[in-house]
Amino acid sequence: MCGIVGYVGPNSSLDVLLAGLSRLEYRGYDSAGVAVLDRAGHLGTRKRAGKLVALLDDLEVEPLRDGETGIGHTRWATHGRPNDGNAHPHLGDNGKLALIHNGIIENFSELKQELLDAGETFTSETDTEVAAIMVGREFRATGDLAEAMRRVVARLEGAFTLLVMHEDVPGVVVGARRNSPLVIGLGDGENFLGSDVAAFVEFTRRALEIGQDQIVTIRPDSVVVTDFDGNDVEPREFEVEWDASAAEKGGWSSFMAKEISEEPEAVANTLLGRVVEGAIHLPELDPIGDDVLASIDRIVVIACGTAAYAGLLGKYAIEKWARIPVEVVLSHEFRYSEPVIGPRTLVVSISQSGETMDTLMAVKYASQAGARVLSICNTQGATIPRESEAVIYTHAGPEVAVASTKAFVAQVTALYVLGLHLARVRERLSAHQIAEQVSELQQIPAKLADVLVSSERIKQLATWMADTRSVLFLGRHVGYPVALEGALKLKELAYIHAEGFAAGELKHGPIALIEPGQIVFVVVPSPRDPLSLHPKVISNIQEIKARGARVIAIAEQGDTAAIALADEVIPIPLAPPLFEPLLAVVPLHIFGMELASAKGLDVDQPRNLAKSVTVE
Ligand code: AGP
Repeated sequence: MCGIVGYVGPNSSLDVLLAGLSRLEYRGYDSAGVAVLDRAGHLGTRKRAGKLVALLDDLEVEPLRDGETGIGHTRWATHGRPNDGNAHPHLGDNGKLALIHNGIIENFSELKQELLDAGETFTSETDTEVAAIMVGREFRATGDLAEAMRRVVARLEGAFTLLVMHEDVPGVVVGARRNSPLVIGLGDGENFLGSDVAAFVEFTRRALEIGQDQIVTIRPDSVVVTDFDGNDVEPREFEVEWDASAAEKGGWSSFMAKEISEEPEAVANTLLGRVVEGAIHLPELDPIGDDVLASIDRIVVIACGTAAYAGLLGKYAIEKWARIPVEVVLSHEFRYSEPVIGPRTLVVSISQSGETMDTLMAVKYASQAGARVLSICNTQGATIPRESEAVIYTHAGPEVAVASTKAFVAQVTALYVLGLHLARVRERLSAHQIAEQVSELQQIPAKLADVLVSSERIKQLATWMADTRSVLFLGRHVGYPVALEGALKLKELAYIHAEGFAAGELKHGPIALIEPGQIVFVVVPSPRDPLSLHPKVISNIQEIKARGARVIAIAEQGDTAAIALADEVIPIPLAPPLFEPLLAVVPLHIFGMELASAKGLDVDQPRNLAKSVTVE
């Protein structure tokens, strides 16, 4: 949940660190800090509570001497309030060592007591400072920074990415990771470390994965990776698909506006290479194998938040096309429910970041229970894909805004591609039937572009509603996950109480919430819907209108019943029921963003949130 950058090389460490931190700030922005070994060999640090700009302002007033070795950190607080003292880096070995950390050291209290008993003193409330002092002590004992790190991580429990540097070893940064992200950037005469590739993508797009329980030592001209026992490891190299500009706003007012505008291409790019002459092509599933996929008897989808709502849509599609039962379980509930899973269960994790600790722990549990594990992820080289047998990457590009938008439509697309693949290997759909569904999928990017045209109207609605205190969202069948997603966006962006309901549930209690002026979004099924849900949802609209609700309907173009009844209709292009959610969700993404903007809120970095929740 924190942003981490490390650098060794001939250029300005400060420039590299601050550039990297500015790209990583979405991972956490309670505080920021840097440590640099200046050219006189002195270790200097600076850290400030608040967003990165507070640190930049401070460095403007009182510059830090620059050098060629450095580490930097943006924090999302777990242990210790978000203040200057708890900001990273933390120091060890009488201020000669600096350490930064992402994650939680679960046994830090007992370790801290040991150190206090040994006469050590602390200046912060953090678990991180415990690690800094421990590594400092081990460095004094061994004179070897990597060995000192190895000795310390052997005693730590929990999840951590640690970077450390020391005055006595210029040109060296040592990193270690367990259950927390870290990747290596390979430069020419310089090397980088980062919690994700955004940390160094403007300097190099060559990267190396670091696996679980591994330690890396970077120097300007070398990278050495070992396991926690000191055995050499050969890391996998990969090319970063994103360029620096892709991680920037590209002229949009916010990352969120940019990413909503990219929803069409997120779907198109996720389909790229996976459709060949109307058939699905998913070689990524080869590590599991079609024979296994044909024999599984159950699918369990694990995810959190928006990713879980994508999973709910995947359930409808996979059950319809492949005729295999699909259960969607929130990751943080999964392993505590003692799930009945085994070799004939396919567990599918969905995670944009690939670092969500709740989902990572659930993936590990599923693997240990013998289930087959497939991940759907948007971040190359992330931890969850590395813990899975196979991964389907969504090619949505970097999603920087904390509230997920384009990743959602990409996740649904990946689930639909998976569903059609399963339908083929389980001989449930013919090649022709699959080609028909594939054709519908391939039309979605253009239809999404049509939906984006209604942005201005939605912005007006949001402006009028800026002072609203409560919004309800109704949807039926595949419209229900859309209602849940719309409500989540409003909560996390505009800090407004919002709730998504299954429309059929309304009369079983929630209708008591309806009073004059209550704003209700209704995701209306197509009038052509073979399940004949349209008249039922129109009846729901009549019921709430009769009680004074103000209804905004997301409805198919030309839906005369919805147009006659609703106070406002946001039209979406015609699409078969399973594909309609991909279109209906975008107006709700836009509405959440515009209402937050109308309230003057930061749509990219909402309060209390982080882009990747890497603690349980
Ligand atoms: C979505 O807008 C939220 N930021 C949050 O619910 C998010 O979807 C959830 O934390 C899962 O994140 P992941 O996809 O990176 O695992």
